[in-house]
Amino acid sequence: MKMTRTRICLFYPLLGLTSILNAQPKGYNYDESRVPEYTLPAPLVTQDGKKVKDAKTWEEIRRPELLKLFEEHVYGKSPERPKTMYFKVLEKTTKALAGKALRKQVSIFLGPEKKGPTMDLLLYLPAKAKGPVPVFIAPNFGGNHTIQNDKAIKLTSSWVRGRKHGAETSENRAYEAGRGVSRSRWPVEMIVGRGYGLATIYYGDIDPDYHDGFKNGIHPLFYQEGQTKPQPDEWGSIGAWAWGLSRGLDYLEKDSDVDATKVIVMGHSRLGKTALWTGATDERFAIVISNNSGCGGAALSRRRFGETVKRINTSFPHWFCDNYKKYNDKEGDCPVDQHQLAALMAPRPLYIASAEEDRWADPHGEFLSAKHAAPVYELLGAGTLPTKTHPAIDKPVHGRIGYHIRSGKHNVTAFDWKAYLDFADKHLPKK
Ligand code: GCU
Repeated sequence: MKMTRTRICLFYPLLGLTSILNAQPKGYNYDESRVPEYTLPAPLVTQDGKKVKDAKTWEEIRRPELLKLFEEHVYGKSPERPKTMYFKVLEKTTKALAGKALRKQVSIFLGPEKKGPTMDLLLYLPAKAKGPVPVFIAPNFGGNHTIQNDKAIKLTSSWVRGRKHGAETSENRAYEAGRGVSRSRWPVEMIVGRGYGLATIYYGDIDPDYHDGFKNGIHPLFYQEGQTKPQPDEWGSIGAWAWGLSRGLDYLEKDSDVDATKVIVMGHSRLGKTALWTGATDERFAIVISNNSGCGGAALSRRRFGETVKRINTSFPHWFCDNYKKYNDKEGDCPVDQHQLAALMAPRPLYIASAEEDRWADPHGEFLSAKHAAPVYELLGAGTLPTKTHPAIDKPVHGRIGYHIRSGKHNVTAFDWKAYLDFADKHLPKK
């Protein structure tokens, strides 16, 4: 699949002029005419060169091959679920949001036998629900208490972004000032009003987001005798956060107020990359949503538009597995690209969302991943992305693959959530 600059250029004018005016890190390419020529690895050709012509070959040969390649070269292998897991209900169902929602908080011990880090899951459910409900699960950046101005939400005792790294200080522990600061990204009333639950976990409870050589967080719990850091093909932090979301689903499966066959994983930015890897590795998730996930998420790496593999591996050396660093400035040598990650969600509904001014994340590269994953959906008879060209700004397109490019910046807004709820209604109709 050879892509030329000319072909891609045809789509780009739709992205609008305002993006040109926005500041982005310097020294990176934001000019569509300078996107290099590249050849995308084919989702539907096996490693030994055979064309995949039926669902069985996809499921039994090609999908496992691709998953393995992403594990070995991009995100690293993650361990199995611990044999024994322990959940502690901190708070039983309590009325919240002026009676519109029910709230629960549960501690999930991530290691066996109550060892290792503990992750707190905050769950809001529609108060009026008559039975188990579908639930969105999305990790948060600042602690569960940042998503709502709700005094009852437990503060995290883990490292918090922007606070002192590494040390266990009182400043890190009590972060009362952060209560509700991210609420614009978490329209809980709208979500429960539409009949869905919302579960969130703090990503720092699983693995703090800074590079300490993997001494803290969940990784050391799984080291072999004498091991001090993950092997080059073992999980980094994105792998760990994704693994944590699967542990969140392990809990949701046990909660009788939740319809665990209808759990939707959603994430923004680095946590959008995480949501995609979660959906790829754990097929229990019914729908996968990537919001502004960019490089190492939905955006095609070979385009080198905005953030590049080298830059992401340099700024965030802990996110991916060490093998991924081999592809710094050598994206074309990587055996996979991100449209194949998107294809790993098939036949489940997948939503990729971009923001017009978020050029660092390469909105057009995010769209192209959706577009080039579509043939896999079509082969499986699962529907498709109902457009071949980049949709207009603020006009969501909802097939089995959904896509929108919202006006504005890198963020999660009510517009995004409304589109996700509409998409979930379409694919998970209420009985
Ligand atoms: C940086 C990083 C992106 C990432 C984003 C975020 O901008 O370069 O890859 O998506 O942070 O997670 O906020």
